[in-house]
Amino acid sequence: MENFVFEYPTKVYFGNGAVKRHLAGELGKYGPTVMLAYGGGSIKRNGVYEEVLSVLESCGKKVVEFGGIMPNPTYAKVQEGAAIARENKVDLILAVGGGSAIDCSKIVALQANFEGDVWEEELERHSFPSVKPVPLGAIVTVSGTGSEMNGGGVITNEQKRIKTGLFAAAPAFSILDPMYTMSVPFAQVMSGAFDTLSHAMETYFGYPDGDNVSDDINEAVMRSVIRNMRVLISDSGNYEARSNLMWDSAMAENGILKIGKKTDFEVHMMEHQLGAYTDCNHGMGLAVLHPVYYRHIVREGLAKFVRFAKNVWDVPAEGKTDIRLALAGIDALAAFIKECGLPSRLTELKMKARPEELLSDRALEEIAYSTTILPGSYKRMTGGEIYEILKECM
Ligand code: NZQ
Ligand code: ZN
Repeated sequence: MENFVFEYPTKVYFGNGAVKRHLAGELGKYGPTVMLAYGGGSIKRNGVYEEVLSVLESCGKKVVEFGGIMPNPTYAKVQEGAAIARENKVDLILAVGGGSAIDCSKIVALQANFEGDVWEEELERHSFPSVKPVPLGAIVTVSGTGSEMNGGGVITNEQKRIKTGLFAAAPAFSILDPMYTMSVPFAQVMSGAFDTLSHAMETYFGYPDGDNVSDDINEAVMRSVIRNMRVLISDSGNYEARSNLMWDSAMAENGILKIGKKTDFEVHMMEHQLGAYTDCNHGMGLAVLHPVYYRHIVREGLAKFVRFAKNVWDVPAEGKTDIRLALAGIDALAAFIKECGLPSRLTELKMKARPEELLSDRALEEIAYSTTILPGSYKRMTGGEIYEILKECM
């Protein structure tokens, strides 16, 4: 993929060497104090921190550090970041990392300027904080979530045992350099890319199902994700594949595929609650849930699952009834998950404690009944059916 610049509503700088080429220009638009927000330290090991810091220093910025943002960032971490941002009157938050660092920074940006509590305001009062967030920029080091091109941030409230999306602030600019992803552990590369595929599928399987350019583009994105994940299985350092996957990630969550669509996203709701209870990896949790959920809704969305089998997985249609063809498409997805080394059972997920402790019947029931039910699914879920799905995933 060629380097390019794209604005929608975030300005995107894409390509090898993009930080050196474009960061200084963006920094010039903001005041002197920059909060550098990042995760558990990968950027200090792979040279990204030094590269970013040298640009900040060459621009004469005062740098305030906010590190240690964990995967599945917590609401407590948001409050810590908001206090630092407020205390130092930061002019820009620069998030360097993946979905976790960027999401946490989005909510920090809003909470820093809001006297109330963002969680309570949005999720309990169903209102939006009436303040302008601190401006935010993102430098992506692991792709998959698409957080770099949207305004949502997914946060775990440990006290309430809820992981959910809050609306906050889209980055004013995002810098995407596929070279920055070269040091990501391979399992995380596959997990992130599967998250992208999941976003595309969650959007594709949703009304309306008439002729819709969004679904046509979506099929191209899904095929690109699958093809390029396969390239990385045999050639993990392939720049072209990594660049395609990085832009696929943004494409799947920047809103373009959703134009004119209701979208499903029930698997995301299940995975988020699973994450709230277990702290499991997002893309890996999705990999376990997708095929099982799809076998539950295939009859209600039959025509679309037939189209998925034919157009995305190239399943031959001859001699197959529609339901056989649709199920063969879901089987192809399940086989692909295995081919990528992603987990197929909840017990294969890495968790904060042993799965036997965290996934008791009672815990599965709590996860199921605390999962948000969204209206876009071909089949409206119930807590009971989500519980069955989780049991089948064991
Ligand atoms: O924390 P560090 O040390 O940086 O390590 C990270 C982390 O352990 C590591 N990593 C990142 N870049 C690296 C690297 N390691 C080596 N080299 C690099 N260049 O990768 C690990 C995972 O990072 P994380 O940011 O947690 O991953 P991801 O981008 O998958 O983000 C997951 C979070 O995003 C949320 C998920 O729920 C989860 O909390 N999502 C956000 C969405 C959004 N805002 O639109 C949508 C998604 O559906 C998703 O829910
Ligand atoms: Zn996701």
